[in-house]
Amino acid sequence: MLTASTPGLDSPRILVVDDEVLICELIQELLEDEGAEVVTQVDGRSALEVLEREPFDLVLTDLKLGNQTDGMQILSQTIRFHPEVPVILMTGFPTLENAVTSLKSGAYDYVTKPFTVDSIRAVVRRALDNLRLRRENVQLREAVNLQRITEALNSTLELNEVLQVVLESALSEFQADSGAVLLDCRDQRRVRLAAYLGNESERPDLTVLYPPKDHEEWRLGSREPVLASAGIEAPFPCPLFSRPTRRSAMSVPLRAKGEFIGVLHVARNKSPQPFTEANLRTLEMIASQATFAIENASLYDSLHRDYLAIIRALANAVEAKDPYTRGHGDRVVKYTQAIGSQIGFGEETLDKLKVAAILHDIGKIGIRDDVLLKPGKLTDDEYAEMKLHPIIGDRILGPIRSLEEVRVWVYQHHERVDGKGYPEGIGGSDLAIPSRALIVAEVFDALVTERSYKPAWPIPKVIGFLRENADTHFDRDMVDILVGILEREGESFYKENVVVY
Ligand SMILES: [Fe+2]
Repeated sequence: MLTASTPGLDSPRILVVDDEVLICELIQELLEDEGAEVVTQVDGRSALEVLEREPFDLVLTDLKLGNQTDGMQILSQTIRFHPEVPVILMTGFPTLENAVTSLKSGAYDYVTKPFTVDSIRAVVRRALDNLRLRRENVQLREAVNLQRITEALNSTLELNEVLQVVLESALSEFQADSGAVLLDCRDQRRVRLAAYLGNESERPDLTVLYPPKDHEEWRLGSREPVLASAGIEAPFPCPLFSRPTRRSAMSVPLRAKGEFIGVLHVARNKSPQPFTEANLRTLEMIASQATFAIENASLYDSLHRDYLAIIRALANAVEAKDPYTRGHGDRVVKYTQAIGSQIGFGEETLDKLKVAAILHDIGKIGIRDDVLLKPGKLTDDEYAEMKLHPIIGDRILGPIRSLEEVRVWVYQHHERVDGKGYPEGIGGSDLAIPSRALIVAEVFDALVTERSYKPAWPIPKVIGFLRENADTHFDRDMVDILVGILEREGESFYKENVVVY
């Protein structure tokens, strides 16, 4: 039995092509007795079409066929659509030249007619054994690659990084040109492009309807993996794959706890070889690993947002205690953004600075009310307790990995450039640049607003104070920038209603 020597190929699917019906029937009977499923074709053209549509494990073809075809065309069609499948060529007119040409063209073996039953059985077994070994090699390589991909996916909890790893892995695994992950399909009508890797000029639209109105019958509607080849209208809800130049594309659903959450696409344009069913199975395994990582990252992202919302609520609670500091955080956001923009901070730093400005006094939640809200001057002991608030803030923000820099700036917001600030006396180049913006903005707000211990100062007095303390308390560049803004914009800079962030 063929199955005995070819584990993994329980019932190999074999295509036999010969324009002699009797030969087809003879080989079919022989191989079916061995447990194979055999498809016969006496017409070369039909055989070419069947090869385009159907999967096979082995192809036996006569070298000379009718209808303007020959075995070499069957061989190249097999290589095109089933690159791993061995092809055995048969001929009644053996020549050394034919044999060499066919083997050079990629045939697995070459047999001459008339042949014995034993010789056909032997060459088929050898070819299937060879196929089994090569498939096992591929499986082993895929297992190693999957392990590598899983490790990469486990190395991050950031959703964007997870999606990047998924696409990079898939493109590298399949020598593909482009890939995309569509997510948020839970309402089954709308998806968004969560990640894309490939030629930027071909980046698809951000949102597509799913499934499009005119394609209700699309296979993806039944959540099936899809393999599409050149010339076939791509059955994907993604314009990336509807381009006629695409040679081959694969799409697999992403499922979490049985629920459909998105689609992973991979397309190949430059490579002449289409994706295979084996590729599709591997992509499904990658999708399965990716789904775990996407769910974990989404959960982390959700927890992270919740944690930030709680901290923001705490910051509001601190401000609400003291009518004099109400709105302080929002105003410090405005001042630090104005200063940071002029320094030339990038968007990411400005966003983090905004969070630091909102949260800079979060540590006051740990200060006793009779100290925090005391009108007038604090005693030395009370002042010592008040000076703990940057340390308490540092501890509160500690568990949030994405706020590492924010945490540093919050910790440093009462430091001075001359190293005489608190809680640590950090000065000089150890004082982070965004911290310096926060320091001057925070004091500026205290000066221009009324407090329990002083009235609001007029602008000339504020500017004088800032200049006097440049290079000691404040970074001189920050003072120059802030004074420049004040001279340009006057009181409107700090007296206009501040947008609540
Ligand atoms: Fe503070």
